[in-house]
Amino acid sequence: MVAPRVYQAMSQPVVGHLDPYFFQVVEEVRSLLGYAYSTANQFNIAISGTGTSGMETAVANAIEPGEKFALFTNGFFGDRIGEIARRQGAEVVRLSKGWGEPYDQQEAREFIRRERPRVVAFVQAETSTGMYNQGKAICEAAHQVDALTIADCVTSLGGMPVMVDENGIDIAYSCSQKGLGCPPGLSPMTVSPRALERLKVRKSPVHSFYLDLLQLETFYMGHKYHHTASATMFYAVREGLAIVAEEGLEARWARHRANHEAFVKGIEAMGLSMLVPEGHRLWTLNTPRIPEGVDDAKVRQFLLEKYSMEIAGGFGPLAGKVFRIGTMGYSSTAENVALILEALQAALKV
Ligand SMILES: Cc1ncc(COP(=O)(O)O)c(C=O)c1O
Repeated sequence: MVAPRVYQAMSQPVVGHLDPYFFQVVEEVRSLLGYAYSTANQFNIAISGTGTSGMETAVANAIEPGEKFALFTNGFFGDRIGEIARRQGAEVVRLSKGWGEPYDQQEAREFIRRERPRVVAFVQAETSTGMYNQGKAICEAAHQVDALTIADCVTSLGGMPVMVDENGIDIAYSCSQKGLGCPPGLSPMTVSPRALERLKVRKSPVHSFYLDLLQLETFYMGHKYHHTASATMFYAVREGLAIVAEEGLEARWARHRANHEAFVKGIEAMGLSMLVPEGHRLWTLNTPRIPEGVDDAKVRQFLLEKYSMEIAGGFGPLAGKVFRIGTMGYSSTAENVALILEALQAALKV
C-alpha cells in the first residue's frame, strides 16, 4: 500500500527537471538515502525506472565486456542479474543454490578466491523465495580480490537492515514500491567512493547511455540536463524516505519483524509451515508452504473476491508450492496480519 502522506506529496505542482526546487528535492533524497541505506556514501541517487533499472545500472556500470562477474544466486532475481551481466558481455560464473537454500559462508569465500572476479553480486532480499542472504562474508572476500560488490536490496530497503557500509556493499539498489511505501517508478541507489573510482578508469563507455552513472552525476549533482526526471516521483520518494527517518530505522525494523513473526505464529497455529528456515527469513515477504491438496490459484481467487486481498503465488520451482505474502512498508501492520490470517484460514476451508 502507498502511504497516504506519499499520495499527498504527489499532488504537489510539478516543477521542471532543471528547476532549483527539483534539485532541492534531489538533495534531500540524497541525504535521506544515506540514512536509509546506513551509509556514509555521498553518491546516493534515484534512477528513473523500477527496481530492474537499478539492477541494470549497477551491472552495466560495474562490469566491462569480457570481465569476470561472479554471481550468487538462489532465486529468480539472482538469475535475472546473471542474464543482465551476460547481455553486458561479462563472463558470468555462478555459485547457485536451490531456490530458498542459504549459501555456506566458507564455500562463498572459496568461490570468490578461486574465481578472482572483477565484480560480485548477490540478492540481499530474494523476493521469489522470502530469503534474506547475509552478504558480509561475500563482500569481505570480494574486497580481498579487489572486486566490486553489488547487492539487490529491492525488498529490504525500508523494512530490514541493509547496512551498506557495515556489510561492505559498493553498489546497492532498491525500488520505490516496497519498503518505502511509494508507487513504482524510481530505483534508489547508493554507490561507494571505491566504485566511483572504478567507474572513472573504465576502458570502455558504459553500454547504456540512460543508465550511465557518471552522466547521471552531471545531472543530479552538476544540474545539467540528462533526461526529464519525474518531479512527482521524487516528491513521493522524498516523502517515503522522510517517513522512514521519522519512524527511525530501528523502530521500523522492529515493526516489520514483529508483524512478520506474528504472521509466522499464526501460520504455524494453522498447521502450515514456512519455506525458509528461521533466521534466514525476510520480514517483508513471507512464504508459507501450500498444504498438500490445496489449489494455489483457487485460494488466491477466493482472497481477491471475498476479501479484495491480493497475495502472490510461487513461481519457477516454487509454483504451486508457496504463497508469497508481503508485509512491507506502510502495509506492515498488526491489523493487516490479523486480516490475512483470518482470510487465509477461510480460504483454506473452501
Ligand atoms: C529482489 C528483486 N529484485 C529486482 C526486482 C525488480 O524490480 P521491478 O519489478 O521494480 O523492476 C524485484 C521485483 O519485485 C525484486 O523483488
